[in-house]
Amino acid sequence: MPIHSSPTGWVLETRNTAYALGLNRAGLLTHRYWGARLPFLSDYPEPANPVFWAADGPGHFTPEEFPGYGGTKYTDPAIKVTFADGVRDVVLTYLDATIQESPSATLAIHLKDAHYPLHMMLHYRVHEEHDLIERWITLENRGAEAITVERLFSAKWTLPEGRAYFLTHMFGRHADEFHLVREPLTQGLKVLDSKRIITSFQHSPWFSIDHNATEDTGEVWFGTLAWSGNWKITAEVSDWHSTRVSIGWNDWDFAWRLEPDHPLTTPAAFAGYTKNGFGDASRLLHGYVRDRLLPHGKQLHKVLYNSWEATLFDVDERSQSALAERAAQMGVELFVMDDGWFHGRNGDSAGLGDWWPDEMKFPGGLSPLIQKVNSLGMDFGLWIEPEMVNPNSELYRAHPDWVIHFPTRRRTESRNQLILNLGRGDVQDYLIDVLDKLLSENKIDFIKWDMNRHVSEPGWQNAPGDPREIWVRYVHGLYRVWQTLRERHPTVIWQSCASGGGRADFGILRFADQVWTSDNTEATSRLSIQEGYSQYLPASTMEAWVTDADQKNVPLEFRFHVSMCGTLGVGGNLLEWSEADRELAARCIELYKEIRPVVQLGEQYRLISPQNGPFSAVQYVSPDQSEGVLFVFRAHIPDFANVVKLPPICLRGLDSDSLYLVEGCEEPHSGKAWMEIGLKVELSNMQSRALRIKKLA
Ligand code: DGJ
Repeated sequence: MPIHSSPTGWVLETRNTAYALGLNRAGLLTHRYWGARLPFLSDYPEPANPVFWAADGPGHFTPEEFPGYGGTKYTDPAIKVTFADGVRDVVLTYLDATIQESPSATLAIHLKDAHYPLHMMLHYRVHEEHDLIERWITLENRGAEAITVERLFSAKWTLPEGRAYFLTHMFGRHADEFHLVREPLTQGLKVLDSKRIITSFQHSPWFSIDHNATEDTGEVWFGTLAWSGNWKITAEVSDWHSTRVSIGWNDWDFAWRLEPDHPLTTPAAFAGYTKNGFGDASRLLHGYVRDRLLPHGKQLHKVLYNSWEATLFDVDERSQSALAERAAQMGVELFVMDDGWFHGRNGDSAGLGDWWPDEMKFPGGLSPLIQKVNSLGMDFGLWIEPEMVNPNSELYRAHPDWVIHFPTRRRTESRNQLILNLGRGDVQDYLIDVLDKLLSENKIDFIKWDMNRHVSEPGWQNAPGDPREIWVRYVHGLYRVWQTLRERHPTVIWQSCASGGGRADFGILRFADQVWTSDNTEATSRLSIQEGYSQYLPASTMEAWVTDADQKNVPLEFRFHVSMCGTLGVGGNLLEWSEADRELAARCIELYKEIRPVVQLGEQYRLISPQNGPFSAVQYVSPDQSEGVLFVFRAHIPDFANVVKLPPICLRGLDSDSLYLVEGCEEPHSGKAWMEIGLKVELSNMQSRALRIKKLA
């Protein structure tokens, strides 16, 4: 049983880790332990009863599991409210707790404000086999008057005291996502967030805190949030050296009017601990995403072609058919028509909102093209951007009030578009109807759902609650539209795109099976973008196209190898590819189809980081360790620096005592030898290799 209760509290155990909490003598729900699983329940420390200084009360010094803003505590709170009488002080007291064994092990701890009818449930779910703990909060007003919630995080995670930690997080921008940065955590509050109504590429909702860890060794505490809108992470080292991380909705410009009988539930926060470095932390998250989160789980993804970089908005039946013929000859399995196909869409200044085929470009509708694509043996996919509207569209002319705006302010357009307020039920219903019609009338197997601008002037006239609820209601609306369409069209595969990787999170991956990783399709940039992405999301969700963006500088095979590290796609203008290039592409696609179960469903090992020099290597191993594939890359090294050499590459994840053959090496060796001694790979500038690994015995 993974959840144990005792007079001093609760212990949550996964395969290798444990998390403990309990009530201390002051009656505060207190964090007790988070780390390696210990042999006996009596091993876990009792709740702390800190000695405190009179000016700052026990709450300030106690590692509270979910501290409210109130009393003499000055650390970063997890909840802040204003009651109807203006009181802004939360005093949470313990009521009871419930443990459920199935369908998954959960613990719910019930707290209540000491005076007001504010009830809070702290929920915990144990993902035993993935070494993860999931947490979320439900807040309920059991009185008669509304309570204003100004902050409500999903979790506060407390790290062992008395150690110096490093925080690793990611930052980026359009076409330059997922840069890793690792910095010491010192006294004070570090804040990472999104204020853009989407997850954002400026920061990713993921943290990793380590105590002298490397890719393969050392303690790492890590976590993420299942939410696709504004979020916030705070990492705090207090004046008494306590290190804590909060994660949840962003409280910036946020307020929620908590009405009686309308509970508010936060998104889920996931976190884990490992002794085996950053790589293991990533693999635990990858496993959970594949096993539990993705709508189509372990279904292998098809090799797709996407028309965007070849034709931009200039799509019609003839141009797409010509590309489809070339794509099919190369072995592509799914043909996706990107932007430009719908009513009035000849550039980025018109059409968004009018989701029916453009009458000039597709006089007979989409069916003739779809039939053509299907007759070539491929599935058909389509691009949409449903949350958006161009002022020059029939939808906007009919419903100008549907967009997010303040009536007294200019409606700032970004890429000539405005955002529909998906918090509104009528907007959600419209999108469900128009997209359901599109999917019902056409044989569409795949949808790329794009979102290309961030919010401004976040106004909502006649909002049902506080207008600042828009940040949360918008995302709930988005999820409702997506969920309804998924239920009505369960076989469709969806891709989440927000000008690239702007909406890549555990929330969206309950609806979308894939993410369009970045609008930057240059292979050498992609190496580090992909490495960043892999910190918390698995290769099966990482769509990667081979395009013409860097065709002058980077060999086609290198570009293919980079894209083969995720879900392979092609996005170049195939009408301009030489026959030799198309033959090479066909060979790469054939190889990818053979190795894709290992890449998409195997364990990923980051062997040499592209951030540290011209060489990089990444390896994938099948779950049963019977096969693998190693990708090695050498970027450009100028002549004067040509003394830099690729060291032997030590493999990972093999069975030590089994014999393996690595492609290109004559002799088989034990898994242990490949992992301890490694192999030498010779590469010249801009060369790459995809080497298969096979277990012999
Ligand atoms: C942004 C996406 O990231 C691109 O791949 C493409 O779909 C364009 N939008 C189309 O407008």
